[in-house]
Amino acid sequence: MIDQGTVDRVFESAQAQIVDVVSEFVSLRKRGINYIGNCPFHNEKTPSFTVSPHKGIYKCFGCGKGGNAVNFLMDVEQINYIEAIRHLGKKFNIHIEEVELSPEQQQVKDDRESMMAVSAFAQKYFTNTLHKSDEGRSVGLSYLRSRGFRDDIIEKFQLGYSPESRSALTDEALKNSFKVEFLEKTGLTIVRDTYKADRFRGRVIFPIHGISGKPTAFGGRVLKADAKTAKYLNSPESEIYHKSKILYGIYQAKQEITRKDRCFLVEGYTDVISFHQAGVFNVVASSGTALTVDQIRLIGRFTQNITIIYDGDPAGIKASLRGIDLVLEQGMNVKVLLLPEGEDPDSFSKNRNAEELEKYIAANEGDFIKFKTSLLLEDAKTDPVKRAQLLQDIVRTISVIPDNIIRSEYVKECSTLMGVEEPIIYAELSKKGKQSRDEQYKAAYQQAPTPPPSQQAPASNFTSLNPYEVEEREIIRFMIKHGHFNLFEEEELGEGEENTTVGAFILAQFQEDELESANPLYKKIMELYEANYQNEDFDAPKFFAASMDKEVSQLTSDLISQEIELSKIHSRFGSKVTNEGDSVSWLVPKLVHELKLKKVKRFIEEQRAILKTAQEARDEEKLLNTMQMISKLQTIQTALSKELGGRTIL
Ligand code: CTP
Ligand code: MN
Repeated sequence: MIDQGTVDRVFESAQAQIVDVVSEFVSLRKRGINYIGNCPFHNEKTPSFTVSPHKGIYKCFGCGKGGNAVNFLMDVEQINYIEAIRHLGKKFNIHIEEVELSPEQQQVKDDRESMMAVSAFAQKYFTNTLHKSDEGRSVGLSYLRSRGFRDDIIEKFQLGYSPESRSALTDEALKNSFKVEFLEKTGLTIVRDTYKADRFRGRVIFPIHGISGKPTAFGGRVLKADAKTAKYLNSPESEIYHKSKILYGIYQAKQEITRKDRCFLVEGYTDVISFHQAGVFNVVASSGTALTVDQIRLIGRFTQNITIIYDGDPAGIKASLRGIDLVLEQGMNVKVLLLPEGEDPDSFSKNRNAEELEKYIAANEGDFIKFKTSLLLEDAKTDPVKRAQLLQDIVRTISVIPDNIIRSEYVKECSTLMGVEEPIIYAELSKKGKQSRDEQYKAAYQQAPTPPPSQQAPASNFTSLNPYEVEEREIIRFMIKHGHFNLFEEEELGEGEENTTVGAFILAQFQEDELESANPLYKKIMELYEANYQNEDFDAPKFFAASMDKEVSQLTSDLISQEIELSKIHSRFGSKVTNEGDSVSWLVPKLVHELKLKKVKRFIEEQRAILKTAQEARDEEKLLNTMQMISKLQTIQTALSKELGGRTIL
C-alpha cells in the first residue's frame, strides 16, 4: 500500500508536468498556451489531441478521451491507478512511502505474492523445458510446430511443456525454496498424504496472464487425441486466479483493442494464438467457460465494441446468443460472426493474413438482429407462429439495451427486416421493459432518493433517463469552471445586498428548491463541491480534474475544454458575449431558472394526467387537490417565464 501523502505528492508533480508525462508517448507541439499532437487513442492524421499545462488536463477533440496526467498514463499503458502512481513516482524521483498493513492484510498480501512468485517460476520452468529438454523439444515443441505455430508466437505467449515424470516441476520448485503450500494453492501440485504430483504432466502449457502480464494460471493440453482424458486441464480457482474475471490473451491484446476500438472474442487458447500469428492482435478468449459480466466489463475498459467469433456449431450458436444479451445489457455494442461449419477461428485464420482476416470479419459480421433472423427466419418465413416467436425473441433482446437512442435504431432495423411496423414493436417493447424503466423514470422525475448502486444505471447511460440532462450538465459546467467567481459585479449590487459566488448560488438554489440531480455523477460532483468549496485553496477545475474517480475527471476535462457556443447566445440575446466568465451574473441565474421551468412544466403535465384519472374514477377529493396543485404550479410557471423573458439559452 502506498500512503496517501505520497500519492498526493506524485499526483501534484504529474499534474504540474503533464506535458512531460504525455510527451513520453506523443510528440507534442506548442500552440498558444496549449500543446497539440496526434492522439494515441485513435488513428488520426491531423492533430486534435490537446494538452493544457495550466489546467493539468488532456483532451482529444477527435475521439473524446480526456482526463488528468494519471488517467492518461492509465489509459495509454492500460495500467491501474496504483501502478500509474508507482510509475510516475519513479519518473519524478519521488520516494514511494509504503504504509504498514495489518497482520491479516500482510498475510493475504504475502500469500498472493508467494503464489505469484511460484507461478512465475513455473512458467519459466515450463518454457525452459519446452525449448531446452529433449522431451520438451521432441514432444512439446514438435507438437506446436506441427500445428503450424511460429517460434515468435510460441515465445510471445510463453508456451511451455510439462514433462511426463510425476513431480518434475514440484521437485524443482522445492529445490528452489518455494513452499509446497503455495504450489498447492496455485494448483500446480496435487498434494496427497503419500505423494506430491504435478498437475499438468505430459501436457503443452498455455500460461494465462493477468492484465499486467504476470502468469497467474495455466491451461495444459494433451498431445494425443485420447477420448479418456480431458483435452485441457486448467488451474483451479485461487487467490490469484478467478477464471470468471479474466480473459485469455487480454494482456497481449489490450493496447491493440484500444487502438482498433474493437475486441474480437473467440473461444479458446489456440484461436487467440492463431489470430496473433495472422497479425490480428485485438482478440481474447473466454476459454471454454460461459462468458461473464466481469469479463465483458474487462473488455469495456478498452473498448465498447465487441465482435463475437464462435464456431458455427450448435454450441457456438448457443454461446453467441447468450453473449449477445450480456454485452448489450452492459450498454456495449455487439456484433456476431459465425464461421462456416467445421471451422473455428484457429483453423480459419490459417493461410489468411491480417488484411484478409479483417476484411472477411468486417464483411460478414452482423448485429444481433441479422444474426437471429438469419438463424431462424428460414423456418419462420412460412410459419406465422414461428415468426411471432422470433419477433418476441428479438424484442426481448432489444429491451435489455439501456440506451434509448440505440434501442430505437434496432427497432427501425427489426421493423425493416421482419416487415413489422415500428409502433407494433414499440408496443411489445413497452410490455417487456415497462416496469423497470417506468420505475427508474419516476425516480428521476420525482427526485426521489437515488436507488442503491446495484439498481443504478451507470452515469454514461443515464443521459436518456434524465429529462434535465442538458440543463444540469450546463449548470455543473459553470459550477466547476466559474464557481469561485462572484456572481455579481459590485456595481450590480443593490444597497445592502451581499454578493455570492457562482458555486454558492447554484448550491443554494438547488437546496432551496430540492433540485437534486437524478444523474448520480452530477449529484456526486455537487456533494464534493459543497464539501470543499469553502476551503481556502480549493480550485474546482483542478480538484475535479484530478479526481481519482475516473468518471468525475473525464467529465471535468470534457466540460473544461468545451467552450459555450457564444454565437448561439449572441443571436438569441442580441448582445455580444465574448467571454462567458464575464456574463455569469445573468447566464447562471437564467440557467437555473430554465431548469426550474422545465421541471415545473413536467410536474404540471403529470398532475394533468392524475387529474384525468381522478375524473374517470370520480374521485372528488383527488380532483380538487390536483386542481389546486396545478393552479399553484401554474403561478410558479408564470413567474419563472416572466423572469426568463420568454427567451431561453439552451
Ligand atoms: N476447454 C477446457 N477444457 C476442455 C476443453 C476446452 O478448458 N476439456 C477450454 C479451453 O480454454 C479451450 C476452449 O475451451 O481453449 C475451447 O475449446 P476447444 O475449441 O475444444 O479447444 P481449442 O482451444 O480450439 O484447442 P485445439 O485447437 O487444440 O483443439
Ligand atoms: Mn479449437
